Amino acid sequence: MESLLIDKTHDETRQGEAFGPSLTDARTYTKSFYIESYGCQMNFADSEVVASILNKEGFGATRNIEEADLIFVNTCSIREKAEQTVRKRLTEFKKLKKRNRKLLIGVLGCMAERLKSKFLEEEKLVDIVVGPDAYRSLPALVNEAAGGQKAVNVLLSREETYADIAPVRLDSNGISAYVSIMRGCNNMCSFCVVPFTRGRERSRDDQSILDECISLFEEGYREVTLLGQNVDSYYFVPNSTNGQEPKPVTFAMLLEKVAQISPLLRIRFSTSHPKDITDEVLYTMQRYENICKYIHLPLQSGSTRILQLMNRTYTKEWYMAKVDRIKTLLPGCGLSADIIAGFCTETEEDHQDTLKVMDYSGFDYSYMFFYSERPGTLAARRYQDDVPDAIKRRRLQEIVEKQNQLSLASNQRDLGKTFTVLIEGDSKKNEREWKGRNSENKMIVFPKSNDPQQKKGTYVQVKVIECSQATFRGEIVH
Ligand code: SAH
Ligand code: SF4
Ligand code: F3S
Repeated sequence: MESLLIDKTHDETRQGEAFGPSLTDARTYTKSFYIESYGCQMNFADSEVVASILNKEGFGATRNIEEADLIFVNTCSIREKAEQTVRKRLTEFKKLKKRNRKLLIGVLGCMAERLKSKFLEEEKLVDIVVGPDAYRSLPALVNEAAGGQKAVNVLLSREETYADIAPVRLDSNGISAYVSIMRGCNNMCSFCVVPFTRGRERSRDDQSILDECISLFEEGYREVTLLGQNVDSYYFVPNSTNGQEPKPVTFAMLLEKVAQISPLLRIRFSTSHPKDITDEVLYTMQRYENICKYIHLPLQSGSTRILQLMNRTYTKEWYMAKVDRIKTLLPGCGLSADIIAGFCTETEEDHQDTLKVMDYSGFDYSYMFFYSERPGTLAARRYQDDVPDAIKRRRLQEIVEKQNQLSLASNQRDLGKTFTVLIEGDSKKNEREWKGRNSENKMIVFPKSNDPQQKKGTYVQVKVIECSQATFRGEIVH
């Protein structure tokens, strides 16, 4: 039932995108792999690390599942629905396996971590199960599986950040790329499975992040999104050199270093936890025009009582004060949230609080979900999932309607304004039009001009001339 009401245009948990050869050309490899990714941006970024590891083993990426020697599905466990989708896909892969006995099927990511070797018992035709911290062992596991053994590695690590592995960009527009800056999560939100599937939080060496961003820029990329479950708690302590005290690098410092690569490189980041986003980060955003003025600040609930049960460690008032601070320091900054409807014991009054905080914050958009109980989480152990489905559905509907109104109002406020837009490519519907986003993360579609200088990866000034709740149309101004 869950995905029915979600505004797909803004659903960050993209589902099942297949990656094919963009930088990798299957013809230069002797064998090929096909990979499909589900879940959050971290999983998509991880698939690019996996592609890099597999390339070195002589496997090239293919879009054609029929010709693959290896099929991988990088999975998500965040809600039950996400797991069901993967299981359905696996039954389809199994048909291929019946036709080609040598084909190997591997399950990667969070569901692999959650279910471990149980996966092999439940899904008999799966050969390889690998958790998010064990991708370096993929070549050995593939060999084991090819020899007829079942191959599993779901060890979580306290150190692994894949810092030295240059991701192979899959299905990329050549303009925007994800750069993973940290892994795992030390927060224990009671509803969330991520701390169990991704392990302890660790930050990646800042120099390796910078090197990756610099080479992306040199290759023509113009936007990097720094990724982590909780980017604001990024904290890297370098090794001491010449006996000097090492100087720890905070998220604000990292942002600044990346922003200094070039004014032409845009920087985005995701996700911020309201308790951790500091003034220092906001001031850094203020100082650099190329740090995009957009913050994804998951709310989850607007009721302090529910927030406490969720173990989010902030109150409704704290959240609203954070929104005030953002709006004071960064006027016009784009703001979005994640919201869960129908968490354990949620009353009508709690739900109304959520709607009120939405109104107060004026989110440009939100990712909205039904609460879905996840085995092993604190909420599953301690609280009863006692809000009936029909009520969850109705409350989510109200949240979606509220968001639709807020999105429309936000878009209408932008009518007639001119924004700097980074051209990302042709619009989906019409190749005589470009699409690109403004700093505040709104996608704008506008007609191409005859100016040969205007191409993918360049910046143009676009005036918004028409909008609906989900789309924006504009025209280039000179
Ligand atoms: N690290 C990010 C969230 C990652 S999960 C953060 O803390 O903001 C993305 C979103 O999925 C969460 O923000 C939450 O809104 C939603 N989510 C997580 N667990 C869920 C569950 N059990 N049921 C429904 N939605 C859930
Ligand atoms: Fe999950 Fe909370 Fe960590 Fe986000 S911060 S990944 S919601 S435990
Ligand atoms: Fe899903 Fe794992 Fe991301 S559970 S949301 S893929 S961290």
